[in-house]
Amino acid sequence: MDLYCVMGNPIEHSRSPWIQARFAALTGQALDYQRRLVPLGGFAEAVAAFRADPSGTARGCNVTVPFKFDAAEVAAGRLSARAALAGAVNTLVFEDPSAGGAVSGDNTDGAGLVNDIVRNAGVALAGRDVLLIGAGGAAAGVLGPLIEAGARRVTVANRTLDKAIALVRRHTGLAHAHGTRLESCELQAVPGDFDLVVNATASSLSGGAVPVAARVLRPGALAIDMMYGPAAAGFLAWAEAHGAVPRDGLGMLVEQAAEAFERWRGVRPPAAQVLAELRELLRATVPARGT
Ligand code: ATR
Repeated sequence: MDLYCVMGNPIEHSRSPWIQARFAALTGQALDYQRRLVPLGGFAEAVAAFRADPSGTARGCNVTVPFKFDAAEVAAGRLSARAALAGAVNTLVFEDPSAGGAVSGDNTDGAGLVNDIVRNAGVALAGRDVLLIGAGGAAAGVLGPLIEAGARRVTVANRTLDKAIALVRRHTGLAHAHGTRLESCELQAVPGDFDLVVNATASSLSGGAVPVAARVLRPGALAIDMMYGPAAAGFLAWAEAHGAVPRDGLGMLVEQAAEAFERWRGVRPPAAQVLAELRELLRATVPARGT
């Protein structure tokens, strides 16, 4: 049976083993997906140890906080275009030993967000104005795919303006190629209003208020927090109170997992079904964030 895992620190909260097990069951794929707690500073060693699993069946892993940048280093030179642009990797693929046995890196977070918006929420992105709040790893993972999905304008707002400027600069060529207007700004100076507002900050984790003014929300705008459960509650309540349609990050979580599953197995799993099942499951449990 092929072996996979999710690596992170902390990792007990991860829903990835449950999601991947459902994908495997529903597509008839035989695989074992585990969770691995990796010590801080020990990511490369943990990947090497996992690849050397005595079963000889380790095929890849998902990577979550705080190791997505370390994972990009492990797979340096073998990154997908979207992972290279993000500078972060959430999916490692252990290529067939007969093909050299290299480790490739992908980033499925942005595709997961876009698929959740378009397929699950039923909102088209082409021609839309998008506000991305945050410029850390979570924001970096989704900016490219938002541009590729055909957004007319993407504004990146961040507490530390320099980080927003640097992120935008990295994506200037892509935005130009897709005819997207791409700009950066400070949280208190967001220009105009938007069809889609994505919260990719960690502000609610530290108990902070929603970091932008409610006027950024057009009536009926879709407002997504990339977290779910209590961590997303403040942002979602704020969005709803101001006439927007709130959406948590659970759909993105399942859709990024579906992208990873397809990358590994060559089969597209039924993500919408598994999302519905997971929502049901979490109704009475303590939620968390991340993969
Ligand atoms: P992640 O991988 O989750 O994106 P990160 O790379 O540490 O984590 O980025 C965290 C993001 O949340 C950053 O955009 C950060 O803003 P700064 O770049 O100014 O640090 C943002 N953030 C964290 N706490 C915040 C707060 N209380 N208010 C506004 N933004 C906050």
